[in-house]
Parts: sequence; structure tokens; C-alpha cells
Amino acid sequence: MSPIINSVLAFSLLCVGIVAVTLIAILQGRKKQVNHPKFFKWGHRITGYIFIVLYLFLCAIMFQKFTMGSVFLSSKDTIHAYIGISIFPLIGIKVCIIYLFRRYHQSLVVYGVLILISVFITVTMSAGYYMVSLTGDQFITLTHNGKPLKVNLKIGRKVVHEKCVKCHSLERVYSHNKTEADWRYYVSRMRAKDPENMNELEEIQAIGYLVKNLGIDDSKMDIELGLKIILSKCGTCHPIERIFRSKKTADEWIETVEKMRSFDPFLLNSSEVRQVNYFLGTILAKQENEE
Ligand code: HEC
Ligand code: HEC
Repeated sequence: MSPIINSVLAFSLLCVGIVAVTLIAILQGRKKQVNHPKFFKWGHRITGYIFIVLYLFLCAIMFQKFTMGSVFLSSKDTIHAYIGISIFPLIGIKVCIIYLFRRYHQSLVVYGVLILISVFITVTMSAGYYMVSLTGDQFITLTHNGKPLKVNLKIGRKVVHEKCVKCHSLERVYSHNKTEADWRYYVSRMRAKDPENMNELEEIQAIGYLVKNLGIDDSKMDIELGLKIILSKCGTCHPIERIFRSKKTADEWIETVEKMRSFDPFLLNSSEVRQVNYFLGTILAKQENEE
């Protein structure tokens, strides 16, 4: 089930709860008797049953999610789960009073309000937070210890900008484009240099940010990425224009790039070479009839 559907269901639960409470409040709380009391009574009952069904359905989804999916159960998720579960006994007590212990009828309103407050906290904590995060944050899914893990890119950026500047500048980081495997290797090496500096979760968050923003997908040739690498790496010895004035066949470009690498063996890694050659061979390719 997608998080968006879950959120919509959760907000529906909250709305149904509000309607149910409003109907009964109008019926019983007003000084003057309302017209059509049957409408309010039945409205409250029907919304109440819809509420219970929706609640149980959401519980089943959440149970599945917590037992299968996520790797780290954050403290927020834990509180969310506990308050969510506490709604269950509250509903149970309310149903018992209605059908078995009618002398406690007066206290029904208290339980109704308690349930509504619990639902409000639970829903805003998860679905509300999720909706807000949709507007600002972005995620990338990585494999961690064999399981998929969603990494928040904003947090990853923060980790890189705070933790990777301890020993060298950020330029040192941003001047590289690497495949996911390479970034994993580099970041774990950097963490090994000073294990106090970064924990395991921060390591994977940093990797997520780097893969998303400075990553190379070897299975996909990307013209923009090729250009970006050329602009950042090829201008140190001669003006960049020298490249854009040339027209060569794809094979000649491969030869030229190899020559440049012979001047500086650390200029490009093998993934960068492929992307650069793809850009040059596509955009700056000599046509057959040109000489
Ligand atoms: C404990 C100090 C330390 C921290 C923290 C650190 N680095 Fe480094 N980093 C180094 C040293 C020393 C080198 C040079 C030697 C090497 O490559 O291992 C280096 C080299 C690098 C290089 C290669 C640079 C080049 O020009 O070849 C990259 C990329 C890099 N670091 C990225 C990172 C990232 C990303 C982080 C944060 C996740 C980070 N570093 C955190 C010490 C650190
Ligand atoms: C380490 C220094 C250095 C870097 C970095 C460098 N070049 Fe060069 N480049 C040279 C030198 C030296 C020459 C002149 C050599 C020659 O004319 O044979 C040259 C010449 C060229 C020429 C014109 C000569 C020809 O064969 O057409 C092109 C095109 C070129 N470079 C492309 C690039 C590209 C693309 C990059 C980035 C991948 C790059 N260079 C990065 C040193 C560098």
C-alpha cells in the first residue's frame, strides 16, 4: 500500500471521527432540543461504525508495515504506534458501556473525546508529517544490510556538510562523480579514518545524498552528467573552449581522452570516462561528410 493511500485513509479516519463527535455534541450538548433527533442519533451511530472499520483496517496495514518493512523504527514511529494502539481499548470500553454498563452512560462523551484526541495525534504524527515532507524533502531508496532503506536527502545533505568537512574541504567531495558502489567504498573508508565522527546511520544517509547528487548510474549514459564532469575537470590545464572548438569522431574522442588521462592518471575514474566519452561522441561528434 503506498504511503499516499495510507495518509488519505488516516485523514479520512480523523474526519469521520470529527463528524461523529459533532453529531452527538449537537444532539446532546445543545440547551434546546434539536429538530430531527433521529437523524443525529443514527448519523452518530453510522459514522461510529465506519470509524471502527476504518481503524481496524489501518491497524492491519500498520502491523504489516512495522513487521516487514522498515529497518530503523524511529522514536517517532514508536510513539505513533503506541498512541495508535491505545485507541483500541478506548473503543472497547466505549462499546461495553453502550451495550453492557448503561449506568456509565454519562462518561461516554469523555471516551469519545479521548479517542478523537488520540486519532488526531496519531494521524498528524505520521500522515501529517509525511504530507509536509512530500513538499520539502525528497527520498532515495538504498539497500542497507540486505533491506531497502529510505534515506531523507535533506538529512543526508546535512551529514555531508557537517561531517565531511572535518578533515578536508567540501570541494574535495563535490569534485567527484561516482557510482553508488564507489561512494559506498569512499564513505566507509572516510568513516574508518575517524569512527567517532559518524555513526552507521549517518554513513548511509551521506551515501544517499552523494549517490543522488554526485552519482553516476553506469547503466545509463547521461549527456548532462558528461558535460558537468568536463566543465569541472577539463579546465585545469587549458581553456575549456579548446574542447568545444574540436570536432572528432567518437573513436578519436576516446583517444584524446586517453591522452589527457596519460597527462594526469587521476583525472577521471572509469565511470567518468564513459560519461565524458558519451558526451563528446554525441554532442561534439564529427559528421561523416565534414572534414
Ligand atoms: C577523518 C578525516 C576525514 C573525514 C571525516 C572525511 N575524509 Fe575524506 N579524506 C580524508 C583524507 C585523509 C583523504 C585523502 C586520502 C584518501 O584518499 O584516503 C580524503 C579523501 C577524500 C576523497 C578523495 C579526494 C581526492 O581528491 O581523491 C573523497 C571523495 C572524500 N575524501 C570524501 C569524503 C566524504 C564524502 C566524507 C564524509 C562522508 C569525508 N571524505 C570525510 C579524510 C577524511
Ligand atoms: C593535466 C592537464 C590536462 C587536463 C586535465 C586536460 N588536458 Fe586536454 N590537453 C592537455 C595538453 C598538455 C594538451 C596539448 C597536447 C597536444 O596538443 O597534444 C591538451 C590538448 C587537448 C585538446 C586538443 C588537442 C587534441 O588532441 O585535439 C583537446 C580536445 C583536449 N585537450 C581535451 C581535453 C578534455 C576533454 C579534457 C577533460 C577530460 C582535458 N583535455 C583535460 C592537458 C590536459
